Amino acid sequence: MEVQQDISLKNYNTFGINSQAKYFAEINSEEDLRTALSLNDYPKKFIISGGSNMLLTGAVNAFVLHINIKGISIVKETENNVTLKINAGENWHELVLWTLEQNYGGLENMSLIPGNVGTAPIQNIGAYGVELKDTFVSCEAMHMQTQEIKSFSKSECKFGYRDSFFKNEGKGLYVITSVTLELTKKNHCLNTSYGAIETELERNNISNPTLKDISNAVIAIRQSKLPDPKVLGNSGSFFKNPVVSKSEFGTFSKKHPEAPFYKVSDDAYKIPAGWLIEQCGYKGKRFGDAGVHKNQALVLVNYGNATGKELLDLAYQIIEAVQKRFGIAIAPEVNIIK
Ligand code: EPU
Repeated sequence: MEVQQDISLKNYNTFGINSQAKYFAEINSEEDLRTALSLNDYPKKFIISGGSNMLLTGAVNAFVLHINIKGISIVKETENNVTLKINAGENWHELVLWTLEQNYGGLENMSLIPGNVGTAPIQNIGAYGVELKDTFVSCEAMHMQTQEIKSFSKSECKFGYRDSFFKNEGKGLYVITSVTLELTKKNHCLNTSYGAIETELERNNISNPTLKDISNAVIAIRQSKLPDPKVLGNSGSFFKNPVVSKSEFGTFSKKHPEAPFYKVSDDAYKIPAGWLIEQCGYKGKRFGDAGVHKNQALVLVNYGNATGKELLDLAYQIIEAVQKRFGIAIAPEVNIIK
């Protein structure tokens, strides 16, 4: 493991923000991670993996560890299921494609989500009716202070909507080193209930979809709405969809009967933040190199040289506009690094 100095993080975060790291190392194994975490010369450590869910707002005056631990292994196999242990540095979408080649089911709806496997549990990634927690068995993580490896069961991860233990009590304490998932080998449980998937399958005259058909439909939908970070810097949904109580929702929907919504439970309704932001006139707006994507108002984009600070100012402006117009508080989904 080699410690480098004054490295640009532009290629390590999908927003493409040109922040400098004071110190930087590639972490290719659990051993590298243990060594790096125990180097007391660099007291402040900062973990970066796919860099797809963060907004860097200034120089990172810390020892940046880029998690690049690769490898996929089968830990258990029965007639119907397979249990895979995937190391944290594997790219999420490449994993999904690999599982589809093996005809393993469970991840197809989460095709094309940017980022790496190790960060997937932190925000319980999800798309088109499926979340990581649906196939999740456990994960292993190294404690940043003691360097001990602990295994976290699904219940210990406390998964919620874009939420987990690692975003709350466990924040900043652990580095996830691997994730174990259970997938199906046959009798796959296909989830095509999400309207846009049904429409895409119908458009292609597919009535009996395979796992790959669903993945292709998801890829087509995502490509039509979400910018490719390799082309236009972004971090996926910048905001979470706000969840409001039944009575708040009642007041809101009386005023805005046309608004889309999802019922989460008897007393919880989710309102798409993208819709709220679009109504405030921000969809497709550009301020210098910082902007709101033209096809999906939930996504902030970097047209080239936006700073993290400019994107953050835009985010605050949007939060304020939504609050003023609808009386609803929206909050960032991405981690703001100050
Ligand atoms: N909408 C608008 N204007 C917009 C965007 C959306 O009116 O600019 C409306 C749509 O017409 C639709 C509703 O809002 O009626 C929901 O839109 P969509 O189906 O695109 O989903 P979303 O709620 O905007 C969430 C996730 C996405 C995920 C999709 C599909 C969050 C914060 N975002 O978006 O996740 O891909 O559902 O499951 O939950 C991500 O986390 O990075 C991400 C892209």
